[in-house]
Amino acid sequence: MPVEIEFAPHPGGSYDVSLSTAQVEGFRRDGFTHVDRITTDEELDWLGVVYDAFFDSRSGAFEGGYFDLARPYDAEGQDVLPQVLNPERLLPQLRDTICYRNANRLAAQLLGADLRALTGWGHMIRKPPLVGHETPWHQDEAYWDVDYDFCAVGVWMPLDVATVESGCMQFIPGSHQGEVLPHRHIGDDPAVHGLYATDGVERARAVAVPLKPGGATMHHPRMLHYTAPNTTPNQRRAYANEFQLPPTRRAEPAHRPWIAEGQRERARRGLASS
Ligand code: NI
Repeated sequence: MPVEIEFAPHPGGSYDVSLSTAQVEGFRRDGFTHVDRITTDEELDWLGVVYDAFFDSRSGAFEGGYFDLARPYDAEGQDVLPQVLNPERLLPQLRDTICYRNANRLAAQLLGADLRALTGWGHMIRKPPLVGHETPWHQDEAYWDVDYDFCAVGVWMPLDVATVESGCMQFIPGSHQGEVLPHRHIGDDPAVHGLYATDGVERARAVAVPLKPGGATMHHPRMLHYTAPNTTPNQRRAYANEFQLPPTRRAEPAHRPWIAEGQRERARRGLASS
């Protein structure tokens, strides 16, 4: 549930970033690209305080807005892959940040779309030191509404050094060109939110994208991606924002039985089906 937290004023400032033609072409061909920096150190410091406050208080913007992606919704004890959904609903100012505005601009560039045509929503995923769980290979669209087709870009920014060992992004080039693969819930338990692709993942072709704090990857909603368990003594905080054009209604719903399975489980627990 939302908690009242007072934060210091945003530090202000600006940072300009755009993608080269080669990066845009690379994104279309491979399904992902990255920039070394998307915001300022001052904003990262400010955002880190906000981020830690949300996780320390286990704040959700709504019932079910905070949960562990890798354990059942009502699991007690140490979280291993906690997520805050829609943090902009906890702190609307997140939409006025340098990182958000730049992410929005880069997504528009990649989609060849007008900035104002895109809507965005965010989520924060934290990998605690040493126990941070892997985020198994998955496609983001596997989580989304089966009645729609999507044109979107996910922008993922670490607040800490992201290496293979702490859980940087890994991608399989070109995998965005296929369909959404069959997925199942982690541990084959529909009470666990996280999904994994059951088949068709060519792990040997994976490309890791280590980043410094404030860098960002961008990926297509069908891109297969993964982050490893955090085996380092440092936390790995990531702030991701998804930007999309208005989705278009499909003639027939996509066949993704794992979504209905998860919704039934959340309904049984009285949780929102985000
Ligand atoms: Ni994802």
